[in-house]
Amino acid sequence: MILSTRQMLLDAQAGHYAVPAFNIHNLETLQVVADTASEMHSPLIIAVTPSTIDYARDEYVVAMANIAAKHTNTPIAIHLDHFEDITRIKKSIDVGFKSAMIDASKLPFEENIAKTKEVVSYAHHYDATVEAELGKLVGVEDDLVVDDKDAAYTNPDDAVKFVKATNIDSLAVAIGTAHGLYKGEPKLDFDRLIEIRKKVDIPLVLHGASDVPDELVKKAIKLGICKVNVATDLKIPFSNAVKKYFKENPDANDPRKYMTPGKQAMKEIVKHKIEVCGSLNRY
Ligand code: 13P
Repeated sequence: MILSTRQMLLDAQAGHYAVPAFNIHNLETLQVVADTASEMHSPLIIAVTPSTIDYARDEYVVAMANIAAKHTNTPIAIHLDHFEDITRIKKSIDVGFKSAMIDASKLPFEENIAKTKEVVSYAHHYDATVEAELGKLVGVEDDLVVDDKDAAYTNPDDAVKFVKATNIDSLAVAIGTAHGLYKGEPKLDFDRLIEIRKKVDIPLVLHGASDVPDELVKKAIKLGICKVNVATDLKIPFSNAVKKYFKENPDANDPRKYMTPGKQAMKEIVKHKIEVCGSLNRY
C-alpha cells in the first residue's frame, strides 16, 4: 500500500534519522530505489517533479509504486516534489499520490501561506501529507531555476508563523544547500537549523543534499532533519555508466543491456545514501 509520509517522518524524527527521498524518472530508477530500500529495510520516499510527471505520467508512477509496495515490506510513499500548480497537485492526489510539496517559496510570505493552506485542506481530506518550503534554494531542479541573488535562508520566527498558519506536515528549510552541483564546498548554517528545530516541532526537510559531504548531511540529521532529498547524485552515475557502456559497445541497441550498468551504478549510491541517512533496518 502506498503511504503518506506522516508516520514515516514522525518515526524518523523520534529515532533521530532521516528518510531518503529519491527522485526517480522511469521504471528502472524506481526499481533501483525500491529494491535497494527493501534489501536494506529502509523506509522510502519516491519523489517526482512536474517534469517527471510530464515524462512518465502520474498513473504509471502510482501503478509502479503500488507494485513495489506489494512485493516488499518497505514503507513506501510517493511524493510530488516542487509542485507550484495546485490543480496539478489535486489531480495527482486523485490518482493515488499521498504526499505533495507545494513550492510557493518564490511568493511573498502571506501568498505562500494562502497557497499552501489550500493544498493542505485538499490533501488532508484524502489523508495525504504536505511539505512546503520557506526560504529559497539556489540551483536547478529540472525546470525550477533559482538564481544566487534570489536565494534566501529560512527565518526561524517566520517558520513558526508559517507552520501554525498552514498546518503543514513537514517544512523544507533553506540553510545553505542548493540543487545540483556546488561551485565550492557547501556551507550549511547549522545555527539556523538548531534555532528552527527549537521553535518548530514538525519534521524538517533538507533539499539539495547531492554533492554535500556526508559528514555535513549527518550533522544536519543529528540536528533535526528527517527527510533528505537526492536527485543529482543518482542521475550522474546512472548516465555515466550508460555512456560508458555505449562507448565500449557502440552498436548496442538493447535497452535491457545498456540500462543494466546504469541501474547497478545507481544502486551503489542509493545504498550509500541510506547509510548516511541512518534509515537502514528501521522496520
Ligand atoms: P539535488 O540536486 O541536490 O539532488 O537536489 C534534490 C532535491 O532537493 C529534490 O527536491
